[in-house]
Amino acid sequence: MTKNILILPGDGIGQEVTSAMREVLHYLIDEQGIDLNISERDVGGSSYDQFGTPLTEETLGIAKNSDAILFGAVGGPQWDDLDWDHRPEQALLALRKSLGLFANLRPAFLFNELASASPLKNNIIENLDILIVRELTGGIYFGEPRGIVENESPKYGFNTMIYNEDEIRRIAKVAFEAAMNRNKKLCSVEKANVLEVSKFWRSIVTEMSSEYPEVELSHQLADNTAMQLVLNPNQYDVIVSSNLFGDMLSDIAATLSGSIGMLPSASLNSSSQGMYEPCHGSAPDIAGQGIANPIAMIASLAMAFEYSLDRIDLARRIESAIKTFISNGFRTKDITTSEEFIKTHEVAPIIVSLLKDGHE
Ligand code: IPM
Ligand code: MN
Repeated sequence: MTKNILILPGDGIGQEVTSAMREVLHYLIDEQGIDLNISERDVGGSSYDQFGTPLTEETLGIAKNSDAILFGAVGGPQWDDLDWDHRPEQALLALRKSLGLFANLRPAFLFNELASASPLKNNIIENLDILIVRELTGGIYFGEPRGIVENESPKYGFNTMIYNEDEIRRIAKVAFEAAMNRNKKLCSVEKANVLEVSKFWRSIVTEMSSEYPEVELSHQLADNTAMQLVLNPNQYDVIVSSNLFGDMLSDIAATLSGSIGMLPSASLNSSSQGMYEPCHGSAPDIAGQGIANPIAMIASLAMAFEYSLDRIDLARRIESAIKTFISNGFRTKDITTSEEFIKTHEVAPIIVSLLKDGHE
């Protein structure tokens, strides 16, 4: 059956890294004769500028009918002063919520050749390979009630951190299953020493562990995990956490690997529909200079082939081409201290030639 793909380049370097990814995608479509129906739309600030909204109803409709959404990045200083509903980030939050993309997989791994790009000492960081499973459609990001109350004194703002047992079970299930396919260690992260919602989270995850006797389950407080990720990141295999804590922990984990420009992510719902995006943002400071690293976006395409397009073979080929790219010494600006580096548009042709080599 024809699979539907929606490409949403977005803003800033989102445009540049998506172009590189598109080249790799089109190469594989031609090589394999894959039957894909591809649409492309603006999102975030670039959608706001044209249509007055960061996500049009039309785009949301196409997204709902897509198997995989390849999302670049959104945001930029020119849209920072917009009111809440018009901010570029709202597009991202609305897509996650409307498609029920509750499971956010954020791998953090190190190519050992890049260890010197990591802020950590080589011996601490070598062989890093962690998967953060972040809950993405609940918790304090979406909890009600929420608001800003201006007509009382003092004025106040408030949000609600809330999880019901079904939401915890479905994300924990994804994490336990991921651990089963990896090194069978799962660390559940919350603040059970302070927050009732966390105490409840811990009790549900503990209850579920009896269904996965092979998985070694541990619990950690989020502040400690932030510290441990820096002190001894290799103690982790899979980490599962809520929307807010997972957001923070995944930024720490990503930066360990040397460059956030290397790491992909997947956001999935229960029918293997997914949105795939690099962990980095729109990087307005370097946008338009042609120096962004498109590897995270290309690796996100690999995740799309694995989780939504039933082509794990192509996922592995892209990943192995990326590995060879690094081991052959190709470096974009973010992963080298040298003045010699390759530009964004040079990356895809190299990846494509490695895909060709690997295939023959
Ligand atoms: C992320 C981002 C988003 C989040 C923002 C842009 C809404 O930081 O994907 O991690 O907080 O989830
Ligand atoms: Mn974030």
